[in-house]
Amino acid sequence: MKRGYSLTQIGLHWLIAVLVPIQYLTGGSIERTHHAVHMGMAPVAWDIVQHHIHNYAGIAVGLLMGARLTLRLMRPPVQVGTETAADKIARLLHHGFYVAILAQAAMGVIASYVWFGIAPIHVIGSRIILAMVALHLFAATWHTFVVRDDTVDRMIFPRPNPSAENLPGN
Ligand code: HEM
Ligand code: HEM
Repeated sequence: MKRGYSLTQIGLHWLIAVLVPIQYLTGGSIERTHHAVHMGMAPVAWDIVQHHIHNYAGIAVGLLMGARLTLRLMRPPVQVGTETAADKIARLLHHGFYVAILAQAAMGVIASYVWFGIAPIHVIGSRIILAMVALHLFAATWHTFVVRDDTVDRMIFPRPNPSAENLPGN
């Protein structure tokens, strides 16, 4: 069991949660745009718009995730009681999100502006993140409807995060 998050951490979490699906909706336009250009045809205008959205929203996701990571390092979640196996898996998945999303945004920038050769790994990264999001959603649903605890509330209502020394039992 962990203590809660600040309003800024919560706001950033949900902003990222809105932007990431946009990446999946717009990602396919890039291949279509490049294909049209290689075939000597004019790309569809809406694909070009989506390509731009993908690049800029992706850069925003990377910067916002960097901001979240900085806040997390300044205000690490405090563990209350013994860490269960489920807590350990959740911690691993949360750490994995920071690594995977920051790497995904960095690979996208490299593919677009430096070296397109990295693009296949960016595509594989998108599948890995999709699986992680599915697991994350499953866990949130499980906590809400089966365990019926306050896990999702922690990401909705800001809560103070006292230092470990002030916690009961310490
Ligand atoms: C965390 C943020 C990001 C996610 C989740 C993401 C996700 C995706 C997805 C789902 C695709 C389509 C994969 C497919 O064809 O099946 C894609 C393609 C692509 N993305 Fe991103 N992306 C992100 C950030 C970025 C950024 C910041 C850029 C560039 C500034 C970028 C550039 C590209 C490029 C160039 C492709 C085409 C790759 C190809 O067709 O081989 N992405 N991305
Ligand atoms: C692509 C979208 C998402 C990403 C990248 C993401 C990422 C993360 C990360 C990294 C954390 C850990 C926070 C930390 O300890 O610093 C977290 C926590 C959390 N997320 Fe998400 N999330 C996403 C979408 C969602 C959605 C749609 C829900 C809906 C129910 C959700 C519910 C939660 C909850 C309840 C927590 C708190 C878990 C805890 O404190 O044990 N997330 N998320």
